[in-house]
Amino acid sequence: MSNDQIENAVTVKNVYKNYGDVEALRDLSLEFPKGQLTSLLGPSGCGKTTLLKIIAGLLPATQGEVLVNGQPVNKPGPDRAFVFQDFALMPWASVIRNVAFGLELRGVNKSERESIATKYIKDVGLTGFEHSFPHELSGGMRQRVGLARALSVDSPVLLMDEPFSAVDEQTRRKFQEDLLNLVKNENKTFIFVTHSIEEAVYVSDQVALLLPRPSRVSEIIKPSSFKNKDINSIRKDSEYLDTVERIWKSLRSYVE
Ligand SMILES: Nc1ncnc2c1ncn2[C@@H]1O[C@H](COP(=O)(O)OP(=O)(O)OP(=O)(O)O)[C@@H](O)[C@H]1O
Ligand SMILES: [Mg+2]
Repeated sequence: MSNDQIENAVTVKNVYKNYGDVEALRDLSLEFPKGQLTSLLGPSGCGKTTLLKIIAGLLPATQGEVLVNGQPVNKPGPDRAFVFQDFALMPWASVIRNVAFGLELRGVNKSERESIATKYIKDVGLTGFEHSFPHELSGGMRQRVGLARALSVDSPVLLMDEPFSAVDEQTRRKFQEDLLNLVKNENKTFIFVTHSIEEAVYVSDQVALLLPRPSRVSEIIKPSSFKNKDINSIRKDSEYLDTVERIWKSLRSYVE
């Protein structure tokens, strides 16, 4: 691997996480290459959010370590942006302030951060809602605010916890295509949690299947051949369908 590829890649090394008596992660190791999107697929409660929070530096591992750019992480940093499963918006702040918040923390001046935020608000389809408050938005709209906030900081590592779960199917497909373009055009490390096997196969360079709690990686699948293909033709592609079926069988076998 060249130095350029190692840069900003994330390495999870033998990570354990216990919450009191609850053993969430046991000896989990995984590499997230730069310029690629890795999906985490696994049963509810297996520890996907826990793993993302440990990578983000929001939660300490009980044992093991996470390296970003070769450096161990132990706190949040501007090199990692997080799209939270529960959106995590500031209820007292307008949409534009929420979106611009990461930039505000980085000391970007008001006019610049509002201009960047306005662009991402447009990208996620929320133009006109800049001055609304989170409680005035639907769940899917709130989720889009969280997405715009994470994209606006332009971090080399993007941690996305079920970022499209609350949006309608049409928006979800648009976002999947936007995400594929982002992966293609920007040399970032994308770490993506989803419950949709089809979505994982469509958007990922690699899919890590996680075992039920205490979780670790059971299998890595690389469905990269579907890139650059049109979504409508992919849905009928026999290789795509076989990959979906194979993942489905693996996940089902863990709980049997
Ligand atoms: N703060 C906490 N305190 C105690 N236990 C926790 C805490 N956060 C998570 N857990 C437990 O750790 C396990 C993993 O939770 P986590 O949220 O990481 O799962 P997940 O894979 O993201 O699930 P889902 O797909 O439902 O979002 C669960 O058993 C959960 O109950
Ligand atoms: Mg979760």
